[in-house]
Amino acid sequence: MKVSIIGGGGRVGSNTAFALQCAAIVSEIHLLDANDQVAQGEALDLMHGSSVAGNQQIYAGGYDRCADSDIIVITAGLRRKPEESRLDLINRNVTLFRQILDSLKATIKGDVTLFVVSNPVDILTRLAIDHLNLDPNKVIGLGTQLDTARFRSLIAQETALPPSQIKALILGEHGDSMVPIWSSATAAGLPLIKMPNFGSPVQQRIFDRTKTSGAEAIKLKGGAGWAVGLTIAEAVHAIALNQPKILPLSTRLSGEYDIKGICTSLPTLIDRRGVVKRFEIDLWPREITGIQGGAKSLDTTYAQLK
Ligand code: 2OP
Repeated sequence: MKVSIIGGGGRVGSNTAFALQCAAIVSEIHLLDANDQVAQGEALDLMHGSSVAGNQQIYAGGYDRCADSDIIVITAGLRRKPEESRLDLINRNVTLFRQILDSLKATIKGDVTLFVVSNPVDILTRLAIDHLNLDPNKVIGLGTQLDTARFRSLIAQETALPPSQIKALILGEHGDSMVPIWSSATAAGLPLIKMPNFGSPVQQRIFDRTKTSGAEAIKLKGGAGWAVGLTIAEAVHAIALNQPKILPLSTRLSGEYDIKGICTSLPTLIDRRGVVKRFEIDLWPREITGIQGGAKSLDTTYAQLK
């Protein structure tokens, strides 16, 4: 199983490569970056660890090396400033993203899965489908998978419970209108909102911190990387191993919650085929209106793309 990472010289791309290398599941990792020297450097550094981590082939190369990739991950893009929203990136990153798609056009094969991470990820996931005229089930955006990981980890920190046993979703836009799904949040199957000392003020504080985590990482260290890499690897491995997994990922909706044609995050079953199905779960009314409101603003933004 081969994965190409476009943006592999950057923090998110190289941290993703490291997460894939440590898991030793994919057999080949190709790093591609506009700054080829940095991609070469990251590939060399990772390759130095291949005698310890696993026997993957890790190298840097151009678009020609994408031709035999099973999964192409796109992390390339300019980073936002802490005070910018992800949607503020729109015109800076869309031009760059279109150039990447055009370079891929010549090499992309029918059964490749495109995994979009670059921001604004919901917009760019939809653009990839339209620009390359791909099967929507073969184009997946990281969406709120990272927000969900942060949400679960922050809840665990607050409650001193094991992070892996916290099941709590963030759905909708990977951005300012993301929605916390408290209606189904549990700790080891126990409803979180019924836990002692876990009332609305605590819930709001945790969600607010989740929502601003991307900006917090940018302010403290220039941008997220490690958790992003782990969450991308989780989705890549479900595809690579053909191990069906339900994850909150951004895909093109086909009528769920009356949303059609827009990419936003719902619980999505993926496997080697790409998107298998989305789950339109029973949510609180305010959770549904939150997802719908975010989709509407994404649709308006998409319509304004130059
Ligand atoms: C974040 O939230 C990169 O959008 C990503 O950190």
